[in-house]
Amino acid sequence: MAIQNVGVIGCGLMGHGIAQVAAQGGYEVTAIETDPAALEKGLKRIEGSLAKLVEKAKLRSEEASAVRNRVHPSTKLSDAATCDLVIEAIVENLDVKKKLFAELGRVTPAHAILASNTSSFPIAEMGEASGRPQKMVGLHFFNPVQLMGLVEVVRTPKTEESAFQAAFEFARRCGKTPVAAKDTPGFIVNRLLVPYLLDAIRAYEEGVGSIEDIDSAMKLGCGYPMGPFTLLDFVGLDTTYYITHVMYDEFKERRFASPPLLKRLVMAGWYGRKSGKGFYDYADPDNPKPNPL
Ligand code: CAA
Ligand code: NAD
Repeated sequence: MAIQNVGVIGCGLMGHGIAQVAAQGGYEVTAIETDPAALEKGLKRIEGSLAKLVEKAKLRSEEASAVRNRVHPSTKLSDAATCDLVIEAIVENLDVKKKLFAELGRVTPAHAILASNTSSFPIAEMGEASGRPQKMVGLHFFNPVQLMGLVEVVRTPKTEESAFQAAFEFARRCGKTPVAAKDTPGFIVNRLLVPYLLDAIRAYEEGVGSIEDIDSAMKLGCGYPMGPFTLLDFVGLDTTYYITHVMYDEFKERRFASPPLLKRLVMAGWYGRKSGKGFYDYADPDNPKPNPL
């Protein structure tokens, strides 16, 4: 059955972008949040992003309005009942996600594909929680969703071929390049990216260089668009910290373990750009200053 109606659960950093690119792909999108303030903020971000696309002549103004009108906000999970595909993009906490998938298994129609945007948790475990593991896939978008070209499409041993192919096609219609990934911790990108980011923190802890100098070195020396500390603050230190738990738990290798400084920043509520403080201070968001750590 063709996908027409898409539900996105969570309208934060990732969810708002996923809702937007799905609406740009022509889907009717129900954006569901528990927190009305977060929902409002997510919708404002979508409107801001669409305005930017119009300003850059990448989208006509009527198209932008049509895209915005295809995003239907809600605070009720029962509104997922009309969806052919539901993508979860809530906090990186397995117990909370499993509880949500158990509810989605009850609320959504039997043909609906269930997807998680998790950075690191087993897709199979969420599939079992939903009671419909054959319909469960990973759809892992990258931050910022509007600009990054990749989606990792993840299948478990129980995922039906038709559900996997439909998810692949959905990613294409969102304007992304899908790659097939196995249900392993961190899939492809985070398996390689996270140890690098953690190593940058360890290098800083060991006095290899300052936050700014390590960032400049990797930007200018390797041609990376962002240095590791700018990227850590951008991804969210809380999200990165949760990912380290999952990866270390699976592999028991130091390279996946949280460095002490990351843990302490998260304990302090310094989550990076989204909380105003992380490795940098964002009091002036256009001119972040490294924190003395
Ligand atoms: N919506 C629409 N358009 C936008 C936009 C938005 N939200 N934000 C920016 N734009 C537009 C800008 O107006 C600009 O348009 P023009 O080129 O026409 O001028 C264009 O997009 C580029 O914007 P910027 O100049 O601000 O962008 P940049 O060149 O500085 O690049 C970036 C920004 C793409 C984020 C780049 O810094 C980058 O690639 N950084 C690395 C990001 C990354 O690695 N992400 C992956 C994180 S890991 C992850 O996501 C997985 C996980 O599970 C944790
Ligand atoms: P976020 O904190 O910005 O957003 C999460 C949102 O989910 C919040 O607005 C919260 O109110 C909402 N929420 C929490 N529980 C909910 C529930 N039960 N029902 C509905 N809404 C609920 O987090 P984020 O950075 O967008 O991350 C979301 C997911 O995407 C995580 O699994 C994360 O690992 C993954 N991810 C993050 C990034 C990144 O760079 N931040 C990249 C790829 C994937």
